Amino acid sequence: MTQRDDPDLLADLRAPNAEHDGVFWHGDQRLMVFDADAASRANAENFADLTLPDRFVDRVRGRRSPAVSWRQVRSLWLSRMRVLSEENRLRELTDRMAAILDHRRDQHVDFAWLAHEVTFRALVPVVLDGLSTSDQAWLSRDAIAKLTRLDAGPGGQTRRQRWESVVAQLHVGRVVRAELRRRTRHGRTRIDLTQPIVDRLLPSLGPDRAVEAVTTVLTAIAGPPGAVAGCLMYELAKRPEWAATLTEEFASGPAELLHRTGTRSAPTAHQFVKEVLRMWSAPLLMTRSARVPLTIRGHRLAVGRHFLVSPYLVNHDERHWSDPDVFDPNRWSAGAAHRPPGGNHYVPFGWAPTACIGAGLGSIQLVLLTYLLCTRFRLELRAPDAARVSLGAVPRPLDFDGWVRRREPARTKAA
Ligand code: HEM
Repeated sequence: MTQRDDPDLLADLRAPNAEHDGVFWHGDQRLMVFDADAASRANAENFADLTLPDRFVDRVRGRRSPAVSWRQVRSLWLSRMRVLSEENRLRELTDRMAAILDHRRDQHVDFAWLAHEVTFRALVPVVLDGLSTSDQAWLSRDAIAKLTRLDAGPGGQTRRQRWESVVAQLHVGRVVRAELRRRTRHGRTRIDLTQPIVDRLLPSLGPDRAVEAVTTVLTAIAGPPGAVAGCLMYELAKRPEWAATLTEEFASGPAELLHRTGTRSAPTAHQFVKEVLRMWSAPLLMTRSARVPLTIRGHRLAVGRHFLVSPYLVNHDERHWSDPDVFDPNRWSAGAAHRPPGGNHYVPFGWAPTACIGAGLGSIQLVLLTYLLCTRFRLELRAPDAARVSLGAVPRPLDFDGWVRRREPARTKAA
């Protein structure tokens, strides 16, 4: 990853955003929709009847494919998510993250990249279980290529990087297609997000659209979870007092309790995670293309025109949040003087009807990662004072490197 000065992607947008109450044109091409209610309404209207595009083969032959609504796909995923968040699945998720941290132990690493590696690789079996090591490696290569592209910005990649990215993407398509074939032809079944697509939708979707649905989730787990996890590591490393409080909370119950109760047995860690998700929401900006004619606060958008929404700016809107740029997990505690506004004003997982399907699991994964970093591992920073977060395509800690060390197991007191 290239090192560069701290960018602030939002620098030019903050002043007009405050001046125009969250909805304004940036140039004459793109409408910025950063007001919570306006963004929520625009998203709802734009995606109300979202259906998948026709299959490639049908487009070539000039005919329509069986219509499949995105809502149908999402509802299959959402019900499978409940199974994937059960106790034994969470235990496996923790074990996978611990194994990756252990594998990187005592090596000099960039923690922002490590966070991506830990979250992405641990989540792959949730999406597509049972892949060979070499197939999983292709998925990781593709994820790294996408993150490198995101980090370098448009046109910032070398020709070689672009080529590697295309190759990795093609391989991922091949990997997913082969796995779909194994499941349909050889009756293999797995408990993951791909299985309900195979069982319930494959005949109407056809292979191309099924591959696209699965790769959509693979892309979704390659970005925001790792970006937020990197910022979580950053906040833990920079705030020893919070690390101590959380360590104490985790010491009061075994990991099993976390797996059984999700976030309930670690309320302070849950508050910490919620604040990381608010403070460092990823991505910073999302571009939407109008699918239907839209009128947003009096601004008309014809089909195909663009508008941008920002979970980050909604979660930092000072009209609704007190001290939005201050990291304060206590704001989430029951007795807090300034309670969070909630509803449309806290959107780390986006907006209905396209809101993140992995919000619950993503939050629990962050709590489990916090658990691992407070009980089994610790981060030793090379230059603690240099670390800071830059606001690029996603929030990203810079100069945040060092070593993962194993914690000494707590000694039991002599009788
Ligand atoms: C901390 C972790 C995560 C964060 C911060 C996050 C954030 C987001 C955001 C901001 C969106 C865009 C929502 C919108 O368009 O309005 C999104 C979409 C999505 N996320 Fe996540 N996500 C996380 C974890 C996950 C996980 C664990 C999964 C699945 C295993 C997942 C799967 C998806 C999918 C499939 C979409 C696309 C939804 C759609 O277009 O209908 N995400 N996520």
